[in-house]
Amino acid sequence: ALITGGSAGIGGAVARLLALGGAKVMLAARRESELLAVRERIVGELEDMGYPGAERRVGILPGVDVGQLHTLKPAVEATIAAFGRIDYLINNAGVAGAEDMVVDMDLAAWTATLDANLVSNYVLMHAVMPMMKKQGSGYVLNVSSYFGGEKYMAVAYPNRADYAVSKAGQRAMVETMARFLGPEVQINAIAPGPVEGERLKGTGNRPGLFERRGKLILANKRLNAVHAAVVKAMRRGLSVESLLAQLAANDVAAMAMDEAAPSELRALAMAAHKERSDDCSWGSYLFTAAIAERLIGRLRSGGCFLALPEWQSRSGPGWIARLPPEDQPYLPPRVVQDEAAKVKNGVLSLLHLGKMPTETEVALATVYFLADRAVSGETFMPSGGLSLERSITERELFGSAKRERLDMMRGRTVWLIGEHLVEYLAEAARQLVNECQVGRVVVLCRTADGASAIRVALRDVPPDVLHIAEVGDDIEGGIDAALSHHGYPTTIVSTPFVPLPDRLFASADGPEDDNLSPEDFRQLVQDNLTHQFRVARKASLIDGTQLVLVSPDVAAGTDKNGAGFALANFIKTTMHAFTATLAVENERLVHDVPVNQINLTRRARSEEPRNAAEHMEEVKRFGRAVLLAGAPLPDAEDSRYRSRIYRGMAITV
Ligand code: COA
Repeated sequence: ALITGGSAGIGGAVARLLALGGAKVMLAARRESELLAVRERIVGELEDMGYPGAERRVGILPGVDVGQLHTLKPAVEATIAAFGRIDYLINNAGVAGAEDMVVDMDLAAWTATLDANLVSNYVLMHAVMPMMKKQGSGYVLNVSSYFGGEKYMAVAYPNRADYAVSKAGQRAMVETMARFLGPEVQINAIAPGPVEGERLKGTGNRPGLFERRGKLILANKRLNAVHAAVVKAMRRGLSVESLLAQLAANDVAAMAMDEAAPSELRALAMAAHKERSDDCSWGSYLFTAAIAERLIGRLRSGGCFLALPEWQSRSGPGWIARLPPEDQPYLPPRVVQDEAAKVKNGVLSLLHLGKMPTETEVALATVYFLADRAVSGETFMPSGGLSLERSITERELFGSAKRERLDMMRGRTVWLIGEHLVEYLAEAARQLVNECQVGRVVVLCRTADGASAIRVALRDVPPDVLHIAEVGDDIEGGIDAALSHHGYPTTIVSTPFVPLPDRLFASADGPEDDNLSPEDFRQLVQDNLTHQFRVARKASLIDGTQLVLVSPDVAAGTDKNGAGFALANFIKTTMHAFTATLAVENERLVHDVPVNQINLTRRARSEEPRNAAEHMEEVKRFGRAVLLAGAPLPDAEDSRYRSRIYRGMAITV
């Protein structure tokens, strides 16, 4: 058995039980000292039990880091060199991720989480597969999480979208790839919830998960409040520079007294003033350097500085006159503890078990699960799963948007982001123009060829309505340019720029190079999940926008062996974790951008259109779904469900 992250936590406990059960185990992790210590313990136990050659039964591979993808294949080769075969690949190692809201998360952090938690699984699986196929048996286990959702169900994990997506991806991978590996090779996932152990308690100087989350909630509430005050003041015409100039004093008491200050900033300061206490500084200072940096990042990302090149390029909080003292905590320690306790109790109340299991308990359940030779493509919940009050499932398109919602789009601007899905984009544009009388359709394509194909398809749309721009790989720059030229859009529809690959795992007797390479898998993740992340983290900061993310299509009749369909389902399911999470986060931001997903991905291959007429029906349904998810929502006063309908949904057309 090759186990990543085998030196501690669930991985360490699984490794120990497998070794006690007679397996030879290879523990792969970053640090040699920890690996040596755990190896010594396991070898000691094996010797006590009387295993001959105990030393040779436990190997270690230091320097293996799932975040460094090039370290992975050598780990497989070293395991084969040591033991002659690999029967179990346990994809256990992972990272906690950025712990930030999507709008504040940087691209490098997002990519690092997806590489470490998701792409690494594929890299390793790809490396072991030729041997497992040859052996005629093998087992891949992905260690996912409750917060990766369940089959047909997305779970929102606010402030951890990168993690949620990576964990949903590990599960979706299992669900969609099993039939390509089976029946000889099993692939399953386990989805533990919070587990009593080091990882939750925090290692070294790092606080535990619940405390980190408590701090993050309080810091984000302040950040969101400052951000909201600035945006609300801007909405009534105050300039962003003048607001930042006033915030620069970073003085709660002075601003609360200042009758000349904009009412939004004054109200903010008065609320902060109430939080004064001797053991912290957040009652005296509106923000820390980190909060100020995020504020500027949000304003920049939302296009507030486009005409202010100085702010556009400014980095760091140099504009602030004073910062909180470093010898005192900014957040009140007692309130952080209360908040952490709320998070802990909150999650405990969601667990079927009602308590957190230990690492050993989870490992025991996992090893029993591994012993079942019949199951593949499933996700096992070793501590029972979550009892969620509300779950978000995928739905079939049903009904149409109400006339009054569509009327709200009259004369407004809509953006369509895409390239190859020409027919779908053109139909959406046509319905927006003809049925909603939108004033402008802005299409952001990747290449000149994409732009001309769209132009041809939409030659019946008046040229003053249709605007097509080529953004290349710089989608952020393209969004900024569109904001400069066309102002705020009412709706942004984002589709992937490139089609899916059409290969996955070749059949045992098929040619090796028919496989989807690890590089191709990583690219697939970037072209779909990361692409939508890049669009969404900016779109979520645009006032008055509705965001629609589209899952990939598999053109009917093109998918010979089902690989495209499997990959489309993998993306669709994984993306829903993102959509569901972002929907919750966005309700906490002043812009309150609703986000929904349209699944171009069919639920079964038998739903594929059988002829041109059925294809056109599907294209039309897509246009209708764009109106349904993309039209502004009814006013909060008109609908108490406003915040619940059409938020975080995945609608299959
Ligand atoms: N900005 C502003 N407020 C925020 C916020 C943010 N970024 N994130 C959370 N909050 C606020 C919420 O609005 C809520 O405020 P309120 O009490 O004033 O209503 C409060 O924080 C608590 O949020 P809550 O609604 O309980 O949680 P959530 O929706 O953000 O997340 C869980 C729910 C279950 C994901 C969360 O409680 C959690 O992380 N639990 C622990 C997860 C775990 O055990 N993980 C280990 C296995 S991987």
